[in-house]
Amino acid sequence: MDRKELIKKYIDFFKSKNHKEIKNSSLVPENDPTVLFTTAGMHPLVPFLSGVSHPEGKRLVNVQRCIRTGDIEEVGDTTHHTMFEMLGNWSLGDYFKKEAIEYSFEFLTSVLNISKERLAITVFGGDENAPVDEEAVEIWKSLGIPVERIELLGKEDNWWGPAGNTGPCGPDTEMFYWKLNNKEAPKEFDPNNENWVEIWNDVLMQYDKDEKGNYNEAKQKNIDTGMGVERTVAILNGLEDNYIASMWKPIIEKIEKISNKKYSKNEDIKKSMRIIADHLKASVFMIHDGVVPGNSEQGYVLRRLIRRSIRFGKTIGIEENFTTKIADEVYKIYDDYNLNSNKISTELAKEEENFSKTLEQGLKSFEKLSIDKKKISGKDAFLLYQSYGFPIEMTRELANEKGIEINEGEFEKEEASHQELSRTASAGKFKSGLADSSIETTKLHTATHMLNQALSEVLGKEVSQKGSNITPERLRFDFNFDRKMTTEEIKAVEDLVNKKIKENLEMTIEEMSIEDAKASGAKGVFDSKYEELVKVYTLGNYSKEICGGPHIKNTSELGRFKITKEESSSAGIRRIKAVLE
Ligand code: ALA
Repeated sequence: MDRKELIKKYIDFFKSKNHKEIKNSSLVPENDPTVLFTTAGMHPLVPFLSGVSHPEGKRLVNVQRCIRTGDIEEVGDTTHHTMFEMLGNWSLGDYFKKEAIEYSFEFLTSVLNISKERLAITVFGGDENAPVDEEAVEIWKSLGIPVERIELLGKEDNWWGPAGNTGPCGPDTEMFYWKLNNKEAPKEFDPNNENWVEIWNDVLMQYDKDEKGNYNEAKQKNIDTGMGVERTVAILNGLEDNYIASMWKPIIEKIEKISNKKYSKNEDIKKSMRIIADHLKASVFMIHDGVVPGNSEQGYVLRRLIRRSIRFGKTIGIEENFTTKIADEVYKIYDDYNLNSNKISTELAKEEENFSKTLEQGLKSFEKLSIDKKKISGKDAFLLYQSYGFPIEMTRELANEKGIEINEGEFEKEEASHQELSRTASAGKFKSGLADSSIETTKLHTATHMLNQALSEVLGKEVSQKGSNITPERLRFDFNFDRKMTTEEIKAVEDLVNKKIKENLEMTIEEMSIEDAKASGAKGVFDSKYEELVKVYTLGNYSKEICGGPHIKNTSELGRFKITKEESSSAGIRRIKAVLE
């Protein structure tokens, strides 16, 4: 079975259960400034989880291209991918646990013909916030899954959301497949046994987390599921290595040809080839969705991917420029996407041309400055970036390979003093939507936080940020709200912001874990797997938000706030433009 066949089977199956197929969205989220890329099929559907009605109805299905950048350095093994396709079906306040689980079971056993003997299940095991999901356990048992094959796990494994600090969330139940063909699955399921591979996740959104941190039974209960296409195709074909499945194989073969090396030769070669294949495929899709290599945000991630693949090309002896040749294979495999090949190849060629010129010299320079050292100075790491275009992550990886470190603190100081290298990488997924960092945009950025707070006070606390873009002239702010704001509401928001400006509120910054930020009631979108520290900006006792800055110190600097426009942005999303006079 190849990807097209699996996708078709999945979509047809859910259509037969009255689901409507929805379009595959861009990898760059249209209405969410808090993450760089679309990471799951549900991502573009967030506004519809809290009651905004979806134009296509309550039962939806699609395949969504996704990017996950959390583990770029992990890529190189048999299973990690930066870009992947996720199949998903959704119920927006329609069917719930019983049907969702039954549909999953039916698809796996009757459409994909997977034997029940090769399936195992995890279910949420309960904690102080919510009880064991007995209902899910009972449904699985009723379908003939024995208790020894059902494992109860905690929040880290079997819980999703909320996407913000409040909102829809709930337990999930995951399906695992015994991947060995020559050995029967053990009667008892052990989730730590790597021969059990997760293939599908049904998220059962039954709670609504409120601002006090309570998990209340949700008014609208939703189902959100996700099945990875690459992984499922690999296991259905009995492959131990995803990269020999049909959506990778022609790319690997092309790399073999260009490098004149065999993929099967040894682990180092396999790793390099997988990195090249993975990174360039992801790059093709990013450029297709409008990203160009650059020094900030999505552009920086793209640059890192292209440059990392070029470096690994060197390690397997590729001398010529090769990125567009790999892209040609990607266009063929994904001909159902109608990829913008001219533009993609032009951008790839340009980036490769630039970087190839400096790579060799940069590597020599790295060798020289790392001789007999335990630590590379921050100045040297910065020099590699500035003179040879080495993203800091690349220098860190080169250093790791030699068992040495980078003086990270010194690098950060160097970076701050040059203000050149984007903070995107270290700021993780949180971006502010700022076009530059002039004093005007900085002021408007602080005003955006005040507007965000005022909107939730005037229109209701379910209103939250869905997008932001700031130029020196104006701010633009997108938020979820069902209808046009009235003149009175617009005035009330303006008045509230101006009243707070006059109170000369101080902006303070604290660094804390995402958990503490959530507990403090800060606004922002939280990714449950996000582990680093985040910055929380607090304005007097008025607004509190996770953000990367920059901000003014005191609201006395702001002047008068005025809303110039309130309009629709997309279904269920309104857009405000405002200025400071
Ligand atoms: N949104 C769920 C996931 O990403 C299905 O696993």
